[in-house]
Amino acid sequence: MNKLTEKTILVTGASSGIGAAVVRQCVQAGAIVIAADRDDPATHTGLDVPHQNLTLDVSDAAAVQAAIAGLKHLDGVVNAAGIVGQGSLQQIDQQKWQHVMDVNVTGTMLVCKYASEVMLATNTQGSIVNLCSAYGLTGGPGNIAYNVSKSAIWQLTRCAAADLGASGIRVNAVGPGYIETPMTDMLKNAGAFRDQFIAMHLLKRPGQAEEVATAICFLLSDDASYITGATLPVDGGFTAAHVPMVNLG
Ligand SMILES: NC(=O)c1ccc[n+]([C@@H]2O[C@H](COP(=O)([O-])OP(=O)(O)OC[C@H]3O[C@@H](n4cnc5c(N)ncnc54)[C@H](O)[C@@H]3O)[C@@H](O)[C@H]2O)c1
Repeated sequence: MNKLTEKTILVTGASSGIGAAVVRQCVQAGAIVIAADRDDPATHTGLDVPHQNLTLDVSDAAAVQAAIAGLKHLDGVVNAAGIVGQGSLQQIDQQKWQHVMDVNVTGTMLVCKYASEVMLATNTQGSIVNLCSAYGLTGGPGNIAYNVSKSAIWQLTRCAAADLGASGIRVNAVGPGYIETPMTDMLKNAGAFRDQFIAMHLLKRPGQAEEVATAICFLLSDDASYITGATLPVDGGFTAAHVPMVNLG
């Protein structure tokens, strides 16, 4: 089914993991994809004309503005660029905190801002999808900058939806749980911690990038035409229930 035929979709974080899966599914669904990443997407996506590859650091405001201003038309945007930046409150320093905020929050905001300007200028009722996280909804130890940045993206999504709704532009997010991508490679050797983490997901398994990409492509498509300001959990039930099994009998 070609749900995205003739739609032009900008995907950041396109060189790896979830962004790369979105690129593949968008192409399969008939879209023209503009793949952007700080790590040259041309060497990862295999995309050629009519698609486009852009080397872009989403935290560089001038570069984002210049790259997106060069686009004539946009129907959809996926903000999948992101970094982890591990560290607890005690471990984090201001520089690392700022870097995570710059990439995850400011980068997402900048792409939303300039991409929506293209949509507004061309009177396009487009769709923007941001990458939140299950850890944007719930707290967790050892990753304070990342978790706070993902909470901010949750709110950014609602506020951007409010600013753009009257123009027919939809802004949504997905909130993934543990997805096996290069970002979570460090968990592969984490033994009991990984087992415990997986057990916190109701489906008792990690998710795959393609499963998140499918949800993103739904939100990009006209099938989601009355959905805006929402964050769709794609987390195997991680945020649905955190109650240990009890036996009161
Ligand atoms: N993997 C998970 O378990 C998981 C869970 C929840 C949310 N997410 C979110 O999904 C998104 C994608 O994650 P992933 O697992 O595919 O990670 P990944 O590390 O595989 O891919 C992230 C991509 O973003 C790019 N990137 C990083 N900084 C950038 C910058 N400044 N400018 C442009 N590109 C930049 C990287 O080069 C990389 O290609 C991230 O926002 C992440 O926080 C992932």
